[in-house]
Amino acid sequence: MRHLLDITDLSVSEIDALLKKAEDIYKNPSAYRESLKGKKLATLFFEPSTRTRLSFEAAMWELGGCVLGFSSADCSSAAKGESVMDTVKTVSFYADIIAMRHPKEGAPQAAAAKSGVPVINAGDGGHNHPTQTLADLMTVKQEKGRLGGLTIGMCGDLKFGRTVHSLLHAMIRYPDNKFVFISPEELKIPEYLKQGILKNADFRECKSMTEVMPELDILYMTRVQRERFFNEADYIRLKDSYVLTPEKLQTAKSDLSVLHPLPRVNEISRVVDDDPRACYFKQVEYGKYMRMALMMKLLGVEK
Ligand code: CP
Repeated sequence: MRHLLDITDLSVSEIDALLKKAEDIYKNPSAYRESLKGKKLATLFFEPSTRTRLSFEAAMWELGGCVLGFSSADCSSAAKGESVMDTVKTVSFYADIIAMRHPKEGAPQAAAAKSGVPVINAGDGGHNHPTQTLADLMTVKQEKGRLGGLTIGMCGDLKFGRTVHSLLHAMIRYPDNKFVFISPEELKIPEYLKQGILKNADFRECKSMTEVMPELDILYMTRVQRERFFNEADYIRLKDSYVLTPEKLQTAKSDLSVLHPLPRVNEISRVVDDDPRACYFKQVEYGKYMRMALMMKLLGVEK
């Protein structure tokens, strides 16, 4: 039995195979209509979600399976004080696979230790979000035709942004990628990443999006993560640090790809949505196909 708790739980060749499978499902959805017939997905979301939960659920329905679960801690026995481990142990008697989101870093790891079925981390606090990374990778592959040899700008809340941390762990494994981290001082990429996986990487940090725009192949925008701040005044001061507008895109490459895991608040102006370089709604769509491919893999189903 395998879980997906961290993107590094998958080897590069496994990620490449998932990308291939997701692309095939995308092109031939009818061929997969019964692939997970009779299987049940439980979505255990202790924290709000639109895309991740609903794309997991749509993915399971489209593969012929069905879905149970809850969308907030308030409507589960967590509200009565039940531990995550007991919840997951219980649900693994009812479902074949679990997708779980939790505000506490490491909760999916603790849950997986007690689960009788595969557990997928659907986001844990400010730590990781591996299935968003799968959606991001499919977007980059579709747009650029490759996952290496790219200059990747990551902008916004690089401290609490779990999608940034997971994507970095994935992109660092492909050759010749360069990283530019654009953030205010308070939201810089965590030191443990700089001392760890980035130690021998080609990266630099800066505060100005405009300054680096012309060199980027990918611009990965992020929301300032209000829910992770201890102090509302700090959030208000930092929330509009970066707002991508058509004016700021004027110096960008014509084939830049703008990604954002969404939800967006104010960091990408709505008029940018009409720019052909805006890829964030394609990311939403690809996320469903990658989650289909992932659930098939973890459930040991080829087609
Ligand atoms: N990208 C993402 O995780 O979105 P949701 O919070 O809506 O699931």
